[in-house]
Amino acid sequence: MSSRSPDDVFYLTTPIYYINGPPHLGHAYTTIVADTMARYRRLAGDDVFFLTGTDEHGDKIAQAAAKAGEAPLALADRNSKAFRDQWAALGITYDDFIRTTEPRHARLVQAILKNLFERDQIYFGKYGGQYCFGCERFYTEKEIVDGKCPDHQTPVIYIEEENYFFRMSAYQDWLRGYLEDHPDVVQPERFRNELLGFLREPLQDLSISRPKSRLQWGIPLPFDDRFVTYVWFDALLNYVSALGEPGSDLVRRYWPHVRHLIGKDILKPHGIYWPCMLKAAGLLRDEASGGVSLPGFARLRVHGFWTLGGGKISKSVGNVVEALALTRKYGNDAFRYFVLREMPFGQDASFSEEALVDRLNADLANDLGNLVSRATTMLVNFGPQAAGATPAPELPDQEIRDRAAETSSAVAQAMDEFAFQRALVEIWSFIGGLNRYIDASQPWTLAKDPGKRARLATVLVTLADALRYLGIVLEPFLPEAAARIRATIEDTRRPALANAVMGRTDELGRVRRLSGLFPRVDVKAAPAGSPPGGAPSEGPTARITIDEFKRLDLRVAEIVAAEVVPKSKKLLKLTVRLGEEPRTLVAGIAEHYRPEALVGRKVVVVANLEPATLMGVTSNGMVLAGSAGEALALVALDRDLPSGAKVR
Ligand code: MSP
Repeated sequence: MSSRSPDDVFYLTTPIYYINGPPHLGHAYTTIVADTMARYRRLAGDDVFFLTGTDEHGDKIAQAAAKAGEAPLALADRNSKAFRDQWAALGITYDDFIRTTEPRHARLVQAILKNLFERDQIYFGKYGGQYCFGCERFYTEKEIVDGKCPDHQTPVIYIEEENYFFRMSAYQDWLRGYLEDHPDVVQPERFRNELLGFLREPLQDLSISRPKSRLQWGIPLPFDDRFVTYVWFDALLNYVSALGEPGSDLVRRYWPHVRHLIGKDILKPHGIYWPCMLKAAGLLRDEASGGVSLPGFARLRVHGFWTLGGGKISKSVGNVVEALALTRKYGNDAFRYFVLREMPFGQDASFSEEALVDRLNADLANDLGNLVSRATTMLVNFGPQAAGATPAPELPDQEIRDRAAETSSAVAQAMDEFAFQRALVEIWSFIGGLNRYIDASQPWTLAKDPGKRARLATVLVTLADALRYLGIVLEPFLPEAAARIRATIEDTRRPALANAVMGRTDELGRVRRLSGLFPRVDVKAAPAGSPPGGAPSEGPTARITIDEFKRLDLRVAEIVAAEVVPKSKKLLKLTVRLGEEPRTLVAGIAEHYRPEALVGRKVVVVANLEPATLMGVTSNGMVLAGSAGEALALVALDRDLPSGAKVR
């Protein structure tokens, strides 16, 4: 993985979410992106610390609690748990979950405040300005649009009060210089430009307190208990307090490698307040991390916003909470794939159920699901024929191996840039190549010719190897499906990118057939409002080739005897004749046909089905019938044909 950055320690944070409401699509997106990145880095062998949590103080929470008639902490306990439960349901692999109401957090916030106050970085003063209660911050005249907060579209209100202020203005030049000299600290680039834009205006000092007469729900200032800490000053420090005191083991180990993943809505606090706070607190200097050299700035990775799009079935998704509920309807992996694939990192994108289903059907059911089903079926069916033959790779097989190596480095490069969409496009191009490789090498034809055993063995080994490769590479993006792929080929090792190399083994291991990895969703059968889990239970309607169809031996058969299977309500035992050959079949049609009415009729049967024993009777084939709801009808011929005639 030559293009990966040299860091082998990786500290990744999400914003800590407000708990005045339940988790929704936006929260889930950031957290899924972070989880994908954390999993990828672990797969690459890095020492990863992945932090998320909840932001529990401030006006917003106090007001929500007052409205619900409960104590702020009771509301916080309940809703913070809702976030943890949601992340558990989504399979999020965070290493720590911090709540700003925890003592470990309050301790650090107070220690930093005390330090800044003693070093005259904080002073007492009066300030009047336009305030947005939704954002919990003052707005400058330039930022206000038509008298309203541009984010909340609610009128800003002039308030004047005595407060403590952080000397943020003192850091303006330093910050501008730093951002100009270090293009990599804020990405994508346009967000760095946005910050430089803010810094062209004079930077105000930051009010970091709220009088208790107006708000009690916060961390008390250690030097004046008439005030609580401004929620943003409190919240940003979670990124340090979760690791511990400055100088502690975890801070020394992880802090120098931090990357903050945020949405574009909170760029200013993260891109302006936070670096100034860190600089003032000495948390950017070597001593803070115990002599470890620090990056100088907490690196920001900024993503865009989801909007709810139009589209026919998307009417069922009226808001961001409902959008997140689609994880239950379509599964975690499908949802995860959709959000990662659909939104170019840093840009806005539109969410709709229809677009999700389109991706699920095209990329997951068709491309990936079909590949896995075809490859495992061929490995199961033709593997025994190829056993013992020595594989001898030819050009097409070598090309697949080369494509795997190219895919790995393209994915590594994309992941360095948080370009999840590109990483997936690369992997899907490899998957497309594999589907074409199967079409071109035609294992089913090779299997018919004993002279082609070595060739068959080579193709099958390449397919097994490619599945093993995909079982590793897909892990960060589709953790559940990747685990199923590994299980089906009995790859029990812990997945690691170091093992995602094709061509290391010539042996065919044990393989089980895996079909229906991603059942196709029939848009007409599962319209808006169909119950969660409404994906069809019928299994995949993945396409099969004509050769696969030809493997079915369908025949005309004449029923010569029929009787009820004892103790069974549904089963009939049929004796049929296929040409001269008599056969016993069991059919689940007793509720629809009386036995005596069947004798003499001609039906269509699958003649080459594995025998199965039902209620003590062994069935050697299957009678074809159509069904719709309660109705059932045997498949019949509209002209007479002799029994034993082939059906195709
Ligand atoms: N509590 C603050 C963050 C403090 S971090 C020290 C906060 N919380 S929040 O609950 O409002 O979460 C905001 C974050 O949620 C955004 O930055 C983004 O990560 C995510 N999203 C919320 N809505 C979103 C969309 N519609 N689309 C994408 N992500 C969005 O702000």
